Amino acid sequence: MDWAELYRQNTTPWDMGGAHPELARRLDEAVLAPAPAGTRVLVPGCGRGHDALALAAAGFQVTAIDIVEQLATQVEPGLGASGGRFLTADALAFREAHALLFEHTFFCALPPELRGRYGEMAAACVESGGELQAIVFPLDKEPRGEGPPFQMTLEDLVTALGEAFELLEDAPIPTRPERPWLSRWARFRRR
Ligand SMILES: C[S@@+](CC[C@H](N)C(=O)[O-])C[C@H]1O[C@@H](n2cnc3c(N)ncnc32)[C@H](O)[C@@H]1O
Repeated sequence: MDWAELYRQNTTPWDMGGAHPELARRLDEAVLAPAPAGTRVLVPGCGRGHDALALAAAGFQVTAIDIVEQLATQVEPGLGASGGRFLTADALAFREAHALLFEHTFFCALPPELRGRYGEMAAACVESGGELQAIVFPLDKEPRGEGPPFQMTLEDLVTALGEAFELLEDAPIPTRPERPWLSRWARFRRR
């Protein structure tokens, strides 16, 4: 998948034009544990950075990673003010512990054979007692069908994360007209 070319052509149907509404709600209602002040959060496959910027605006210190270099000019300025940063890198190879990893349409963008590497990255990048919070999407797309996005279920994520993580929450997210498939919010604690 040539992600850089898709951004150049502005062919980005996954882009919601703002933070995911469920993330925005949890930030507004201050129910996104752990508490933001100074907490380091990792956003792999951040795209244009809507979620990363919302987390930074709420007080998190954000490391946003994307493999597409040209996204830096869009994402970096909004993160720097709160001590955050944008890295052009392969997020699967990143190894630096954070208190929180937030996942939105990165897991489902990966070819399924890379999910084991996602689990290794998550284990290395979430400190013990920290959390991984994920929008599990698209749940009801056909299994083993074309992608991205590839079908992603809670079980897929549990399998990729393995024994390193314990599931704390699995909650439905209201469907939205611009998102044809079902989503859930999952929260895990790093053992
Ligand atoms: C479906 S998009 C989602 C972007 C963003 N999370 C959003 O919701 O708008 C997937 C993103 O992952 C990035 N990506 C794909 N493989 C990557 C990798 N190995 N490391 C870092 N970023 C990657 C792509 O460039 C793209 O921005």
